[in-house]
Amino acid sequence: MTNYLKLAFAFLVAIASISNLPQEPSEKKQDQDDTIVIPADDTGAASRRDFMRTKLMYSQKIFEGLTTGNFDSIERSIQEIQNITLGEQWVAIDNDHYRKLTEDFKTTTKRLMEAAKTKNLDATALRYYNMSTSCIDCHNHIRQARYEF
Ligand code: HEC
Repeated sequence: MTNYLKLAFAFLVAIASISNLPQEPSEKKQDQDDTIVIPADDTGAASRRDFMRTKLMYSQKIFEGLTTGNFDSIERSIQEIQNITLGEQWVAIDNDHYRKLTEDFKTTTKRLMEAAKTKNLDATALRYYNMSTSCIDCHNHIRQARYEF
């Protein structure tokens, strides 16, 4: 029971964090001189946001799989998230901090996959929680640094 509560909490925090992403470009500024914000490709910034947004869909799918005990679906969704981090559009910002946050995120998704393969629900739930905090950390950094996308 407590694990489900923790999960529900992690999930709500993730949603709250994401919906708070800054929307007004005019309010953004950059805080690090060595930061390069990689321009979105020809298909534009909206396309990159859509690409990034699929992370949310797959993390919700993992949550669904945890509640229904569907480990096949969990593994498929983790794989999708791992593919997203390999995509060209992932590299939105080129600086050490973003690279470190990306590495942390990849580590948490890798551990989540390892846990899912053991089909241990509690271990997988814990690793899902760890991945969620990694999403929140990066998004919190993005908000605080106020990058111009
Ligand atoms: C290492 C950094 C990083 C991590 C980790 C990360 N994201 Fe993102 N996310 C971004 C960036 C950069 C964008 C694109 C922002 C833009 O182009 O405006 C983005 C965009 C998004 C968007 C679209 C936001 C919008 O304004 O439409 C959602 C939703 C999202 N991410 C969810 C997640 C979820 C869920 C996770 C964890 C499973 C996650 N992100 C992990 C960096 C990250």
